[in-house]
Amino acid sequence: MIIRIAKKSDIPSSEITPEDVYINRRKFLGASAGIGAAAFLGCGAAGAESDAEAADSQDLEPTSWDDITTYNNFYEFGLDKADPARNAHTLVTRPWTIRVDGLCAKPGDYQLEDFVKPSVMEDRVYRFRCVEAWSMVIPWRGFPLADAIARAEPDPSAKYVAFETLWDPDQMPERRWKPRIGWPYREGLRLDEAMHPLALMVTGLYGKTLPNQNGAPLRLIVPWKYGFKSIKSIVRMTFTEDEPPTTWATQTPGEYGFYSNVNPNVNHPRWSQANERVVDSSRLFKRRIETLFLNGYADEVAHLYEGMDLKKFF
Ligand code: MTE
Repeated sequence: MIIRIAKKSDIPSSEITPEDVYINRRKFLGASAGIGAAAFLGCGAAGAESDAEAADSQDLEPTSWDDITTYNNFYEFGLDKADPARNAHTLVTRPWTIRVDGLCAKPGDYQLEDFVKPSVMEDRVYRFRCVEAWSMVIPWRGFPLADAIARAEPDPSAKYVAFETLWDPDQMPERRWKPRIGWPYREGLRLDEAMHPLALMVTGLYGKTLPNQNGAPLRLIVPWKYGFKSIKSIVRMTFTEDEPPTTWATQTPGEYGFYSNVNPNVNHPRWSQANERVVDSSRLFKRRIETLFLNGYADEVAHLYEGMDLKKFF
């Protein structure tokens, strides 16, 4: 089934390709191309951008389950795109505790089952744009981050929310990069960004439980920002007054900023962000489309950045 994405940021779950149709289509295509992409730490460079198609003139359909679950960035499990699918089976996702702390009225250690409220589960198909200039279209299952924040009752002085990934060297093989990346992986959002209804806490994919390599049991998805903001396997949520340190902006401040909004007008120092490669291993030839401002979600979220110089606050 084809989904027209033009200027449409939130695709109803009824439009997600049903699993059986999806599987049949894959059989029909006989798609089995391997993914041999090398991972560059700090995110790899995109190739020359020439014949990109305009994203809003294209029909896109959800990326296949196979591509979404075998082409990953989860550096705790290895630096190659195929490593997380190979290695993340060692991640123990139950029991799972999320610590809520900082400037809020309801701090505490919450069991996953108490933190996730199935009554508000939603299926949402979002564009996903990696800072490395590749993209997917992903049917997530989750609940609004705003719900989790409201339940914690942040103090009026809280201006930001920070997140932390589990760091357990016994479960996560990629110890070599501890000094360079500085695990645990950290991310953060301004509180008004975090409260936006498009920001999701995700527990599933294609209506199924989120695979470990995609950030089980709980990850963040902020569809108008580069993929690295979407922190995986979250164990901590902290409310702060000051902008919290984040993994990539700390590691390489000249290349990655706190905001990390998808912006085709602000290039990465080492490559263009004007367009993106659509990840689809069933295609023989790579396809590039133009990158949209705020990843196509400008109508919904541009007001959050009014008056800000987005070249400075990249
Ligand atoms: N979260 C953690 N804990 N560790 C990581 O290495 N990589 C980020 C983000 N979240 C990362 C992470 C990056 S760079 C991207 S592009 C996305 O996860 C990739 O998500 P995916 O593998 O589900 O596509």
